[in-house]
Amino acid sequence: MSPKELYTGKSGEEIVSQLYNFKDKGDREIALRPEMTPTLARLVIQKARELKKPFKWFSMPRLFRYEKAQKGRLREFFQLNMDIIGTESIYAEADLLASIATMLRKFGLKDGEFAIGVSSRKLLATYLEEIGAPNPALVYPVLDRRLKIGPEAFAKALADAGLTEEQVKKLDDFMSCKSIEEVKTKVHSENATAALAEIEDLFATLTAAGYGECVNLDLSIVRGLAYYTGIVFEVFDKGKSMRAIAGGGRYDSLTEKLGGERIPGVGFGMGDVVLADLLAEHNLLPSPKQSVDFYIASFTNDMKKVFETAQIFRDTKFGNCSVSHPLAPMKMGKQLDQANYQGAKIVVYVDGSKAAAGEFEYKDMRVGEMLVGSPEAIVERSKMVIESKNA
Ligand code: HAM
Repeated sequence: MSPKELYTGKSGEEIVSQLYNFKDKGDREIALRPEMTPTLARLVIQKARELKKPFKWFSMPRLFRYEKAQKGRLREFFQLNMDIIGTESIYAEADLLASIATMLRKFGLKDGEFAIGVSSRKLLATYLEEIGAPNPALVYPVLDRRLKIGPEAFAKALADAGLTEEQVKKLDDFMSCKSIEEVKTKVHSENATAALAEIEDLFATLTAAGYGECVNLDLSIVRGLAYYTGIVFEVFDKGKSMRAIAGGGRYDSLTEKLGGERIPGVGFGMGDVVLADLLAEHNLLPSPKQSVDFYIASFTNDMKKVFETAQIFRDTKFGNCSVSHPLAPMKMGKQLDQANYQGAKIVVYVDGSKAAAGEFEYKDMRVGEMLVGSPEAIVERSKMVIESKNA
């Protein structure tokens, strides 16, 4: 929760219109955080001297936007943010786009099932300049809505922003370009050529790393946020039938606009809502299964011994072992039911008759095998990858 002005200045009209804001009991205008980027930029300004650049930063904040709740859009959602701060190099973009593709592949999606569309505000700005379009700041929000509002409303909104019919036609043609070669026939200035070379380098780098199939040129992507200055990108499902899974871009002057020194940055946000819809559509949503390394059981309901033994296995020397046990005296059958339900790999018996001093009887629940061993041996066994008979 922050004073409203934090978000009304630098993010652009779209986000301001979606602010979840209200007056608090002290009559202050408050807004619930709609995005993380201005917060990160302020943090970067504050720590500018201490942080060795470039650095990578991620967060998964809960965000709020006062949008009409619909498929893919809620008023409250989570968003993974990944940003690289302190370099103007296009390889930061390459690194981030590669991690998006890797992430989606690890979720089980195939390359053809998602696409990262890439565009460039720099390229667009130089093209607007080339065709003599007035005031890009007024034009960008209209261009961003191009596919949503349809050709007539698009032309009208651009005319309202001061563009001639011919300029609107040129812009529409430009934004429909599907390849770098096609764009080359339309732009001629040095700046445009440099912006195009940047995109070419980005694509070549991603192709070399095995992500060529995941990215494509999509000049219809503009992005609603005002602070982007270079490459912008959005990730969509194959047929673009859903809202964007993720979106981001380069913002090299945001810290400066917020009163700090100029520190370049690039990053993206990936929301949980569309991602979950897409994974569900492909049957890839993981079913949340409980799991615990050890369940400590007792034949005699010796709760003190149960707690004492649980401590042994929770010892940090064993790493991050997770331990559970009964919270009230109960029959062994019930304890094993609990162990099963909780997904325990191993049940350790605190009072098994076959165990010597310093050892425990235990059952590897994955294969149903009864064994005896020291805590070290039991922990080692729990770390072995064993295919469960019940899987
Ligand atoms: P954004 O395009 O506004 O960018 O949001 C990024 C992603 O957050 C969207 O593609 C979508 O998945 C998710 N998202 C946005 N609004 C909603 C909503 N109402 N309900 C569910 N999901 C939503 C940004 O927020 C930038 N700050 C990203 C960024 C980070 N740029 C640079 N660094």
